[in-house]
Amino acid sequence: MKTSAWNALDSHRLATQNLRLADEFAHDEHRAQKFSIEAAGIFIDYSKNLITAETMRLLLELARERGVTQRLDLMLAGERINVSEHRAVLHMALRNPAGSVRRYLLDGIDVGDEVQRVLAHMRKFTQQVRDGTWQGGTGREIADIVNIGIGGSDLGPQMVCEALREFAHPRLTMHFVSNVDGAALERVLSKVSTETTLFIVASKTFTTQETLTNATSARDWFLANGGREADVAKHFVAVSTNAVEVAKFGIDTANMFEFWDWVGGRYSLWSAIGLSIALANGMDGFEELLAGAHFMDEHFATAPLDANMPVLLALVGVWNVNFCGASSQCVAPYAQDLHRLPAFLQQLEMESNGKSVDRDGNVLAAPSCPVIWGEPGTNGQHAFFQLLHQGTSVIPVDFIAAVHCNGKLPDHHRLLLANCIAQSEALMLGKSEAQVHTELRAQGLNATEIYALTPHKFFAGNRPSNTILLDKLTPKSLGALIALYEQKTFVQGVIWGVNSFDQWGVELGKQLAKTIDAELKVGIVSEAHDGSTKALMRRVIS
Ligand code: F6P
Repeated sequence: MKTSAWNALDSHRLATQNLRLADEFAHDEHRAQKFSIEAAGIFIDYSKNLITAETMRLLLELARERGVTQRLDLMLAGERINVSEHRAVLHMALRNPAGSVRRYLLDGIDVGDEVQRVLAHMRKFTQQVRDGTWQGGTGREIADIVNIGIGGSDLGPQMVCEALREFAHPRLTMHFVSNVDGAALERVLSKVSTETTLFIVASKTFTTQETLTNATSARDWFLANGGREADVAKHFVAVSTNAVEVAKFGIDTANMFEFWDWVGGRYSLWSAIGLSIALANGMDGFEELLAGAHFMDEHFATAPLDANMPVLLALVGVWNVNFCGASSQCVAPYAQDLHRLPAFLQQLEMESNGKSVDRDGNVLAAPSCPVIWGEPGTNGQHAFFQLLHQGTSVIPVDFIAAVHCNGKLPDHHRLLLANCIAQSEALMLGKSEAQVHTELRAQGLNATEIYALTPHKFFAGNRPSNTILLDKLTPKSLGALIALYEQKTFVQGVIWGVNSFDQWGVELGKQLAKTIDAELKVGIVSEAHDGSTKALMRRVIS
């Protein structure tokens, strides 16, 4: 992994460790323009990172050495780059419009026809539900839609439905149930009626324990509360790659929306997994979302590395993690409607790049994915931003905002943006001891008081951030934003040398949970467990 560009970056970091961002801005009035980029309707200012032109030159050299362009070409060509699962990675084909000059082939066959076929199926169904011609067993229109799924079969659709709330059908209320904790399902079921509810059972594999448990309980509830067996088909549809398991569960495969093994779970909101999005926003809205993502894909696939938004975002992240020592990355959307974006990005980035070995199974020589976390601003400011400003760890922040608001309270929006901009300025500038002294003196404090208070009021500053601006939060801009992060994740995976498309790390816990659940069910604790596990199980059983 430690190629010559990597070693050059190590030396460069040493040489620039005293770089002060405030000084860099003072000396270069064009710094903000130099380190900004606009593409696919998105603007990013990455100038508030500890970078110089030389840093970017070396990072781009690293991208070349690590073969970012070549790996992208393999992905675009439908090669099975997910080597441990022997799968192609073609989620970009899901948003490639019909008639596009770009074609995505798998084993020589254009997957576009299949994609368009399922989109047409989704269009027909969603139109019927939205215009009321799809009715429940008692002839009433659908009013509530419950998506039952977890991970990629939940986070993406939920995040998008929340983000596009302003554009949603007024009659339809969306609900998302993912947790196997019965409280999640009960909470939703207590609010809906069997006559007017449509359940979408969304699972790529259709073997996920949480989803099948929730779906079974939802069907039991339906039948126990006036729903007839003959009407299950009107109230339960499935989204899956696994028709056999869908049929076994008892859902008519005519009511199944399919997708394919070349769509990773966390990259699946663009497939039929996005059915809830299409129901809420209409197929036209869904296709706008796809169009925004396609816009970003084309930029990513064609722009040179040094003018390529996902590449630059990825490289700045690599700089922060591998050369400046950041072990976590905060995402702060200054948009309440994007409140599920940090959770979505957690799965996208951490499930993709949270790996310790490279594609060939060799142990990595340097850290890979940082911990991704965050909350919407301004809420975060009154919670964890204290640590971002004055804590012992330096944590880079992605500030995300829309310049124009969708809502009817423009004064709120101005205040929101003021806070967003102020936070990145504060993180970068900090507050010197001299400034603190002047402030405290002006407040009339004496020298002893000033001396005691100064360390508490001092901000080191020089803390890195990106500011990502959309013009407005729309299906199209949201599509571009999500694709930006997907492609950033891809580029970082290439730099770190990992397979970004498998997730073996989630399997062990699933296996052990099955064994433990079987033992809890019969009340017998196997001696094979360790002392702590046995004691916990006995406590649960008693
Ligand atoms: O357990 C992890 C995972 O496999 C994710 O990658 C996936 O998004 C999620 O579970 C749900 O899987 P499925 O859609 O097959 O139910």
